[in-house]
Amino acid sequence: MTSIHDFRKMKEDGRKISMVTAYDFAMARIVDASEVDCVLVGDSCAMVMHGFPSTVHATTEMMVTHVAAVARGLSGKFLVADMPFLSFRKGPAAALECVDPLMKAGAHAVKLEGVRGHEATVEQIVRSGVPVMGHIGLTPQSIHQLGGFKVQGRDEETANELLAQAVLLEKLGCFSLVLECVPSTVAARITRELRIPTIGIGAGPDTDGQVLVLQDLLGMNGDFRPRFLRRFFDGDEQLRAALNRYHSEVTAGTFPSGNESYL
Ligand code: KIV
Repeated sequence: MTSIHDFRKMKEDGRKISMVTAYDFAMARIVDASEVDCVLVGDSCAMVMHGFPSTVHATTEMMVTHVAAVARGLSGKFLVADMPFLSFRKGPAAALECVDPLMKAGAHAVKLEGVRGHEATVEQIVRSGVPVMGHIGLTPQSIHQLGGFKVQGRDEETANELLAQAVLLEKLGCFSLVLECVPSTVAARITRELRIPTIGIGAGPDTDGQVLVLQDLLGMNGDFRPRFLRRFFDGDEQLRAALNRYHSEVTAGTFPSGNESYL
């Protein structure tokens, strides 16, 4: 099984890390059979799997259910679980009440957004023996404060603040850091400054790894086409075509055939 030490080594060796989200058992089995390095049960499940407009709607109960389903579909991949909205903003003790069921559901690490104001919580989780992945830049749980899904760190002051947050998260003991929607130059600078690996999404080619939402990279998310996204499959189209073939065969009476029937 991959561990946090392997990720540090991958950075040192210049071997890029691939990460994807998964939210359910069926997809987890497919990811498990792939060469992808690690899996994130992101709080994006509130949007992708439940149809909510933002990740603010993810709850501990929701995350634990998805983490448990994904963990049952994995045999050896490193599994990170997102801590949902506000679960780590009520102090270290309250945060551990969320970390506990996530880890018992099968996560190997937790990810949480931001750092300012909850430094002690990050430290406490790490000291409790739970690996923590940081997440800065566009932090979707703060979407209403950020004023939308916008690139962060475009000017010198905000870029410097991102670097300061990254350095602080490393100091607090994070084993890795997600950089979301930041200019490539800023991501490259942060990646150079840190010893822990950075995982980018919308952060250009110079981070130590990349993460994408599984349904986005498989083309299963409708018209969602941000600049950073590459679709590696046309899932919406392919799945619709398969369903239409099924419908045609049923209505034409050609499915099931004799071979597909019990004698
Ligand atoms: O929730 C999520 O899917 C994430 C990734 C986009 C990094 O946090």
